[in-house]
Amino acid sequence: MRVVSVVGARPQFIKLAPIHRVLVARGHEHIIFHTGQHYDQAMSQVFFDEFDLPTPDLNLNVGSLDREAQIDAISKGLELPFTDIESDWILVYGDTNSTLGAALAAERTDLPLAHLEAGVRSFNHKMPEELNRVLTDQMSDLLLAPTKIAFKNLQNEGLATNAHLVGDVMTDLCLMSKQRVLTKKPSMPENWRNTDSDSYIVATVHRESNTDDGSKLREIIDYLARSSVDVRLIVHPRLRDRAKKFEIKLDSGSLKIFEPMTYLQLIYALHHSKGLVTDSGGLQKEAFLLGVPCVTLRNETEWPETVELGWNELDPNCNLDLEKYFSKIFEPTDACPFGVGNAAKLAVDAMEIRS
Ligand code: UD1
Repeated sequence: MRVVSVVGARPQFIKLAPIHRVLVARGHEHIIFHTGQHYDQAMSQVFFDEFDLPTPDLNLNVGSLDREAQIDAISKGLELPFTDIESDWILVYGDTNSTLGAALAAERTDLPLAHLEAGVRSFNHKMPEELNRVLTDQMSDLLLAPTKIAFKNLQNEGLATNAHLVGDVMTDLCLMSKQRVLTKKPSMPENWRNTDSDSYIVATVHRESNTDDGSKLREIIDYLARSSVDVRLIVHPRLRDRAKKFEIKLDSGSLKIFEPMTYLQLIYALHHSKGLVTDSGGLQKEAFLLGVPCVTLRNETEWPETVELGWNELDPNCNLDLEKYFSKIFEPTDACPFGVGNAAKLAVDAMEIRS
């Protein structure tokens, strides 16, 4: 098969890694197009280096634009490259503007489209990510669902015929990376202090709904700064930008700030933490897989399994006492709602069967 993967934002480089390995191991041709949605070294190139991914065959360098302009630049920019390549699959990942832009280009050029992480829903139509997912699923010829719940969502939307339950490729990478950091500590950022394993919380905030309203962002930062446990805040560029705009100091009180990390650094940081406070989708699952409890600063989650199994609590209004919450006993579980680490293999199986 010839598969064209379109990626553009940090979580997609992570999902790309296990897929690339399986495609190459099975002798398929894998072409990588980068939209350039994320362009900082620490948001993009570090992952290509860390996972030994080849340099993308094309980079659209769209950069920072507002949502509509970004999607438009990606979809128009990909049309010609898509037409020039006879591919068995255009493979898109997750829920970003790059996902939808590439899906629109595949639709216009009439190329078979596969969506990895299909059927994931927050049911919050105000989220750009939710619109990106729903629209991409509607256009896809192959829907690769990461969980039973995602598969059920596709059934409910009448999309089951083209859907396969394959598991979550982030599980593949997370489990592999856990083994790696257990055997060899990654080189951590200079300002990372070695402390006892239970003495800090990891935090990330980057969603539009939490960062783009100054008073909401201030509420979150104050909440983290008030914590009686150290909070290590890994600062996404959107957070840095909005904090500057609203004149919110990020390194106050209990907060210590860190630049975006590599994947292995992040897994190491999370694995040794007392808990996670986040609005990221991927991190909620990674925390679960590492046995780290999570507080999600949102009204809803795409990963309700983490809540149902008792390892994640939604706290949109910053009400929880973090120290108390993370000191609870969390019931260990051997449930594997995100698969067992073979999702990339199953996803490639499905592409082979359907091509
Ligand atoms: C995007 C995805 C989100 C995903 C997240 C992971 C959409 C709608 N959202 O959100 O689903 O969880 O990526 O990070 O696609 N910026 C930089 N350097 C970079 C990249 C971005 O400074 O390398 C700045 C941009 O100027 C922009 C901000 O960060 O102001 C946000 O970037 P954007 O691509 O709009 O979305 P994310 O918030 O990263």
